[in-house]
Amino acid sequence: MTTTAETGTVLITGPTRGLGRATTLALAGRPDGARPDLLLVGRGGPELTRIADEARARGAQVREIGCDLARLADVRAAAATVRNLLDAGAVRPLRALIANAGAMSADTRTASADGYELTFAVNYLAHAQLIGDLLGSLTAPARVVLLGSNTYHANLPRRIMGVPGAEWHDPLELARPANGAKKPGFKASGVAYSNAKLAILYYAHELQRQAGSGINVSVFEPGWMPGTALGRGMPAAAQAMGRGLARLPGVSTAERSGPQLASIALDDEWARLRDGAFVVKDKVREVRPVARDRERERRLWAATAQLMDRADTRA
Ligand SMILES: NC(=O)c1ccc[n+]([C@@H]2O[C@H](COP(=O)([O-])OP(=O)(O)OC[C@H]3O[C@@H](n4cnc5c(N)ncnc54)[C@H](OP(=O)(O)O)[C@@H]3O)[C@@H](O)[C@H]2O)c1
Repeated sequence: MTTTAETGTVLITGPTRGLGRATTLALAGRPDGARPDLLLVGRGGPELTRIADEARARGAQVREIGCDLARLADVRAAAATVRNLLDAGAVRPLRALIANAGAMSADTRTASADGYELTFAVNYLAHAQLIGDLLGSLTAPARVVLLGSNTYHANLPRRIMGVPGAEWHDPLELARPANGAKKPGFKASGVAYSNAKLAILYYAHELQRQAGSGINVSVFEPGWMPGTALGRGMPAAAQAMGRGLARLPGVSTAERSGPQLASIALDDEWARLRDGAFVVKDKVREVRPVARDRERERRLWAATAQLMDRADTRA
């Protein structure tokens, strides 16, 4: 680990569990001089306080920012809190934003507080709002690291395991919850998740074009971590299988991938990552052709603004 750049402040969403928790502890556990101030953005409550206390015990200056990412008004309020802290000099300059939080809704009819399909809303829209609201508050050189997933495309092993790839549609459609009396199956949840992760890749490419020159955008894929709580809405048997698989050698864990994500956010060796570079564990990988599409990227940017405006008007 070499961190010669000004360490400043790192904001991370979803610090309470899984990868976010491990990343937070890795950031807080850095040596004096390389330890960032931390802004922990997560649902307010004892879990957020617990991780904040654990990070403080490792020596970090920590602020808890309560925010339900399924409510864009909350996200806007969290961004305003961050701006106030920065303007008041209460924390050091914002050098990295890690858009880590994620969810996979078990029922694609479920809507966020703003009426958007929950998986799309939490993984993608909330982060687009947060990053958009804080873009001008990052101090160059700064990094935005988003969380992707290889599930954006289906390959043979994933097909065998019943993990579907993305099925892209216009973003306004992706944001619309399913309807009907019958609960859509597990496949629909997987498709919604993969669509949200493909949206993140498209967004990262466009964000790099829109952001200032000192802001580098990348996308991290931590590897399959079946031991985390991501599948908590899934059937109990699937969750039990996940816990079993988490013990297999070679399978990723939050404890292994968390320090890697912390490194991408701060260390010199990753300073040149930009243009939405896709890092799978510790290697930069070219994305499939489907994940580079200027037309879809432009359309997503415009539709995202529309979805955020609609939510703002309703609030
Ligand atoms: N697990 C994998 O195999 C895998 C693979 C590739 C990519 N990823 C990505 O890695 C990231 C972390 O996932 P994980 O596996 O660590 O999952 P996890 O254990 O379920 O953690 C998800 C985090 O997101 C937070 N979150 C979810 N909904 C939220 C909401 N509405 N408001 C605020 N916070 C919310 C959770 O907070 P609460 O505790 O309050 O719910 C939790 O802190 C996600 O973006 C995921 O898509 C995971």
